[in-house]
Amino acid sequence: MKVRVVRSDLERVDLPIVVVGFTEENIQEPESKTLKDITINLVELGDFKGEIKTFTLLYPSEIKSRRLLLAGLGKEQELDIENIRKVAGSMARQVRDLGVDHIGVSLSSFTVGELKKENVTEALVQSIIMGSYNEIYYKTKNLEKIKQITKITLFDSEISASVSEGAEKGTIIGESVNYCRKLSWGPGNLVTPSMLAKEAERIGEINRLKVTIFNREQAEKVGLHSFLAVAQGTDEPPRFIIIESGKKEKGKDTVALLGKGITFDTGGISLKSREGMPSMKADMTGGAIVLSVMEAIARLGIDLHIIGIIPATDNMPDGKAYHPGDVIRSYSGQTIEVISTDAEGRMILNDALSYAAKNYTPNAMFDFATLTGAMHVTIGDHALGYFSNSDWVAEKIENASNTSGERVWRMPLWDVYDEQLKSDVADFKHTGGRPAGAITAARFLSKFVMDTPWAHFDIAGHPEQKTDKDYNPKGSKGPAVRLVIEMLRNWE
Ligand code: BES
Ligand code: MN
Ligand code: ZN
Repeated sequence: MKVRVVRSDLERVDLPIVVVGFTEENIQEPESKTLKDITINLVELGDFKGEIKTFTLLYPSEIKSRRLLLAGLGKEQELDIENIRKVAGSMARQVRDLGVDHIGVSLSSFTVGELKKENVTEALVQSIIMGSYNEIYYKTKNLEKIKQITKITLFDSEISASVSEGAEKGTIIGESVNYCRKLSWGPGNLVTPSMLAKEAERIGEINRLKVTIFNREQAEKVGLHSFLAVAQGTDEPPRFIIIESGKKEKGKDTVALLGKGITFDTGGISLKSREGMPSMKADMTGGAIVLSVMEAIARLGIDLHIIGIIPATDNMPDGKAYHPGDVIRSYSGQTIEVISTDAEGRMILNDALSYAAKNYTPNAMFDFATLTGAMHVTIGDHALGYFSNSDWVAEKIENASNTSGERVWRMPLWDVYDEQLKSDVADFKHTGGRPAGAITAARFLSKFVMDTPWAHFDIAGHPEQKTDKDYNPKGSKGPAVRLVIEMLRNWE
């Protein structure tokens, strides 16, 4: 996306379309004579009242730009950054669907009340990029009908360095979310473990990050047996991907980010029913989050030591596949009784968690996984559920949630649930039956973090947005990316 901030005003700026925001108060008293002249009839007639997410398109002769989109911001009292994001996402789609690829926005008209200009700038840019997202994917026909915004111009009478910085950050974050969406929604035959590994190498090369990739034989030597148990049923070569940004240094925290990278989840021998299966192409969304965040932190220049780990494999039924009842010795040395081969996420993640905890001794560790249908049933689509063994980590998450706009909710991680994981033949079973399925999964993972402060995000169901809404168009939402970037850039 090409993003510019220019010194100009509504009268002089010459763009294919300009958007001006109005609160319900401001539309009654537009700030310039030109705007008053343009809007006088429609205000008198009551056709545009500035209500939030209402839009009116005009073709005025009073200004150089030929299209003018009025964007309702609602009541000034109720306008916060998240509402700006929602309006910006919707207006971006309106502009995109007109077939206009360059959107101009009056920055001052969105900077209402106490809002800070650099925050408004970041919110506008980020949400225009997210809201107008329209990936061509693998279509070959009627490509001219697939409309996209490729340029954003914000204009204001004065431009400060912090506004330019806000535009830069908004660009990086918006693009990072879209990158996650693209990987998340890519089909299982193309978004393979090798493809994710190539992406890691590409990101590493551009941003000078250290990338290490274990293939099946190397993972075997390292002892990642729980990861390999899932991988043994597929001919698609598995990859255990490690990306490292920065170095361990005194006074600098090490943070590990882990993402479930199941590139397709059939359920394995505990085969899924056919209805649920197509969406399992997105079972590597946790891995996509990690790749997206690693790239964003490099672009933002975040000065932490960050390790990204993505255990990536298909989960397939096969003559060589692991079975229900198998006992697996994990990287940690603990033994696991497999109950359902469809609970494969925790099989690959436990090795990743112990690997990170043992080899990097991080100050904090976060994992992201489309882990249990139970979590989606519990919390629905409007918040991300997470589990944590540390109030310190939870506070970081809550703070980042407040400013990034992604809702989170902390779930219980009481040890009483361990009863459901008792096994007669191994250290524990890896599933605990239907009750509290998301909690027993989190309890299982907690056995592998050693004493590391840790949080586990169960994002099952969250990759998918069913209809266009605010800054999330239909398709993958790219969940948690904004939240994690926000948390890391405020880390101290
Ligand atoms: N990838 C699925 C979880 C999932 C379900 C994600 C629906 C998105 C939508 C995971 O691997 C899985 O199959 N989980 C099982 C666990 C069970 C066997 C304990 C589930 O949720 O049914
Ligand atoms: Mn599964
Ligand atoms: Zn899965």
